[in-house]
Amino acid sequence: MNNLSGKHGLVGQTEKPDLKSRAYRQLHDTLGKEVIQTVINSFYDRIKEHPSLGSYFSAVKDWDELKARIGHFWWIDLGGERYREDIYNPHAVHRYLKIPPILIDDWLLLFSTNLHEHLPKELAAIWFARATKMAEWIRTDLQQHKK
Ligand code: HEM
Repeated sequence: MNNLSGKHGLVGQTEKPDLKSRAYRQLHDTLGKEVIQTVINSFYDRIKEHPSLGSYFSAVKDWDELKARIGHFWWIDLGGERYREDIYNPHAVHRYLKIPPILIDDWLLLFSTNLHEHLPKELAAIWFARATKMAEWIRTDLQQHKK
């Protein structure tokens, strides 16, 4: 008995951090496509009006298509099965746009505000942790290619 509970205890301990850090991969299931798309639609409605971020989107002609594309990006990232054929290359896209790395701060603030307006705070926090990781990868890439 001792051995068994000891063993389970150990398994529990080794599995917990991994389960927690990968919790975002369950979000597609918890939230569903529609909610994810609604959150993203709202984010892009805001970003186009945003004082420091909005101008980067001035070339966008089809907002519905952009929202659908990025809604799908998040659906896959949050663990869902792909349902569009899109291929994404966010590093190249943002590098090409020559976005100043400091603007990642504004993006994160807006993303967080938007998440918290749509989702319970535990779910918003999981999605936001994942978005922060991605945003920091993009920031690092922008810093490395800044000239
Ligand atoms: C300063 C911050 C940012 C600005 C100004 C910005 C702006 C843009 C613009 C203008 C596009 C192209 C839209 C189009 O297709 O015409 C784009 C694409 C995209 N952005 Fe951002 N972005 C920022 C940060 C981020 C971050 C932090 C993420 C993810 C965490 C992200 C995710 C994406 C994705 C997935 C795409 C589509 C990439 C592709 O088509 O391959 N963006 N962004």
